[in-house]
Amino acid sequence: MLSIKQIQVNKNPFILVVNSLISVVNPFISVVKEKKVKIIALQGSPKKKGNTAKILSWVEEELQSMGHEVESIHLGSKNINGCLACGKCKEKPDEPGCIQKDDAPAILENIITAKLLIFATPIYFWGVTAQLKALIDRTYSLYVNYHQPDHCSLLEGQHQALLATGGGPYENNAEPVFTAFGRLQKPHRSINAGELYIGQCSTPDNLDDDVKKRAVAFARKIAGGI
Ligand SMILES: Cc1cc2nc3c(=O)[nH]c(=O)nc-3n(C[C@H](O)[C@H](O)[C@H](O)COP(=O)(O)O)c2cc1C
Repeated sequence: MLSIKQIQVNKNPFILVVNSLISVVNPFISVVKEKKVKIIALQGSPKKKGNTAKILSWVEEELQSMGHEVESIHLGSKNINGCLACGKCKEKPDEPGCIQKDDAPAILENIITAKLLIFATPIYFWGVTAQLKALIDRTYSLYVNYHQPDHCSLLEGQHQALLATGGGPYENNAEPVFTAFGRLQKPHRSINAGELYIGQCSTPDNLDDDVKKRAVAFARKIAGGI
């Protein structure tokens, strides 16, 4: 029941106008709220303040300015073993089901809730870093029946993006990383949201405005489809 004080407040013309304005604006607010999505970035460089981290921070800032929730996971600070290929995870199609007791199961539980997953890595010997590769291998536990009609994945429909940095050019150097990433969406049943390679990197201080612009454009592109 409303108290007398509340009834008096409700009759105040100013409050009535404000209330009706809120009711007009509210549906638009909920539309904007619905657009906010959970984004996770897997930061694969061992360096917390290196080239990859700096470029990823520009991407994350842009995504946050668009209203999204962004969580960055520094894989080098986690204990993540390689996949044992024991196949136990395949017995549990509804959950990651990995039997190893390290930090990966919690990360896998977390990434399946993200609408957009960003893989960020320096190029190490024409591949991703060992830290990121170990986690990617553990995503083996997130799908079952690959190559069969009943293939299903806990990452189904997830948007995935790749940001890679390297000291060399794209050609004859970085392509294998992008080729492998382009294939990852098949077992994951996910969607390739976009890719960015920043080559000829030296130190983070030398990353200029042009790189920042490319990072911002990349953020807008990968968020565009979600
Ligand atoms: C072990 C190791 C291997 C590397 N291999 C390559 C390579 O194959 N191609 C390349 O372009 N850069 C290579 N680099 C350079 C890094 O990819 C580059 O400096 C990157 O921007 C570092 O990112 P970070 O500062 O985020 O760690 C290598 C660096 C290290 C330490």
